[in-house]
Amino acid sequence: MSQHASHMTTTVPRRAVVTGDAGFIGSHLAQALVQAGAVVVGVDRRDPATDPTAAANLAALQRLPGYMHVTADLLNCAIEPLLVDANAVFHLAGIPGVRPSWGPKFSEYVASNVLATHRVMDAVTRMGVPRLVVASSSSVYGPTEGGPSVETDRPQPASPYAVTKLAEEQLCLSHSAQAHCPTSVVALRYFTVYGPRQRPDMFTHRALTAALTGQSLRLYGDGHQRRDFTYIDDAVAATIAAATIPTASGVINVGGGSSASLLEVINIANSLSGREIQVHQENPRSGDVLTTRADPGRAHEVLGWQPQVDLHNGMQAHMQALAAETAAYGRAA
Ligand code: NAD
Ligand code: UGA
Repeated sequence: MSQHASHMTTTVPRRAVVTGDAGFIGSHLAQALVQAGAVVVGVDRRDPATDPTAAANLAALQRLPGYMHVTADLLNCAIEPLLVDANAVFHLAGIPGVRPSWGPKFSEYVASNVLATHRVMDAVTRMGVPRLVVASSSSVYGPTEGGPSVETDRPQPASPYAVTKLAEEQLCLSHSAQAHCPTSVVALRYFTVYGPRQRPDMFTHRALTAALTGQSLRLYGDGHQRRDFTYIDDAVAATIAAATIPTASGVINVGGGSSASLLEVINIANSLSGREIQVHQENPRSGDVLTTRADPGRAHEVLGWQPQVDLHNGMQAHMQALAAETAAYGRAA
């Protein structure tokens, strides 16, 4: 986890499996779980021995006792042996990102987000794991009128990626609804998560990198699109709560309560760095919605969760981490 301590009392599963642990959210989650006393098996197809991003994401974790990383592809590996004695599985592995999902990579989205999820869910139920927490996405809501999205709203996914995330969460829920299924499923609809180790294709990473390095920033559209930005530590706290709290299967929004436009993000990056970012405006990209906004009621009621880190403080921590990487490697990651 980054420097903001989790604000919630941390009850963790004794033994947990985190898929996608070499990624952005998965690496923070695995670290928080181990630090709170859980034994964690992480599984990801990226090998930290050969993949620099995986190595950087797992650097702190691999020094901790109670953690083991397995490099394996969930599309074809034996999943059941990884699940022995697991009290919870956190399924975060998948192909993220809205914009590239229109192209030929769509088959990879379907493979990792839907087919691999089916294998995970099948193994989890056969091994009798009591809880699966799965990473869904705010993108399942699609275009909104600007008001907050409630979990009961009709999903209108606006990109191929969003279609796979809706399929993923519903697939898990359909498994759990089967008679005698031993696994309850909590699907978390994360809203644009940011913070240290954020994926380099994402806007906050790119804006802060531009502010630190003087590189220009490509802005898709006029910058008035808004996101409900969620700081990584807040996302992790909600995710851990979702594994341990007694609840029926269902979906829950995890939205950061920091509704801001991209222009506001640029302004914060400018003020944190003392440098004016050079912005190159380009056409809006297909599948991007104008606004995402979480209704946080269910997360509060079911998980006892509410976000603690505002956008300014979260971006400051994110920028400090990027600056440290730049100093360590002589470049912005
Ligand atoms: P990430 O790309 O950093 O991490 C995903 C990890 O999954 C990667 O390390 C990748 O190697 C692994 N993976 C993919 N397919 C796999 C397979 N078949 N077998 C094994 N490992 C596989 O992405 P992230 O930003 O950390 O997102 C994690 C999850 O949360 C994804 O499911 C994403 O759709 C979802 N999500 C993310 C955000 C966000 O803002 N970052 C928002 C909503 C939902
Ligand atoms: C993010 C994640 O990338 C998805 O994986 C996730 O499912 C989604 O959040 C979610 O909330 O469910 P997105 O909101 O598109 O998706 O987040 P960014 O990739 O950070 O993009 C935010 C906005 O910045 C978009 O409008 C995008 O077009 C814009 N952008 C992004 C730019 O203008 N320039 C860039 O270089 C990158």
